[in-house]
Amino acid sequence: MKYRKTSGAAIALAMALSGGGTALGQDLLAANPLSGDEKAIRSGKGWFRNTCTPCHGGRADGMGDMGTGADLRKLKIGFRGFYATVKNGRQVPGRAQFMPSFSFLEDKTIFEIGAYLETLAIEGANWKEGEVNK
Ligand code: HEC
Repeated sequence: MKYRKTSGAAIALAMALSGGGTALGQDLLAANPLSGDEKAIRSGKGWFRNTCTPCHGGRADGMGDMGTGADLRKLKIGFRGFYATVKNGRQVPGRAQFMPSFSFLEDKTIFEIGAYLETLAIEGANWKEGEVNK
């Protein structure tokens, strides 16, 4: 895992991994606190459409106009992994496209987007505990 752009992202990720030092506190992120919340799901859908569809597609299947965003219906990295990836982005050397960092989004907004995406999850998806990033 490499973060070529800023060391800030690496620090943020290290903090997220250790569970300390973030505004979020320690045990908050094992699962989405807004999971199943109708209002959050509606708001998250709006955010997703505005912010994520160019790469991930309107149905979150990875078929956006800009191509190769991952299929988020089969997210396997758990909620912590989801949060860390949106917050910090992810750049895998050798891949044509990378996931930008959305560190400017409020935590609540990220939770809302997650709550919406959970409603699209297909078999095998894991939105609970999981590896942080991969
Ligand atoms: C500029 C294109 C682009 C945009 C915009 C974008 N993504 Fe991504 N995203 C990607 C790419 C490409 C990957 C795959 C990265 C990799 O692992 O190589 C990815 C990966 C992810 C992953 C990890 C998926 C997994 O299974 O590991 C999550 C979660 C994610 N994006 C969420 C979001 C959310 C939420 C938004 C909107 C706030 C968003 N993305 C906007 C391109 C984008």
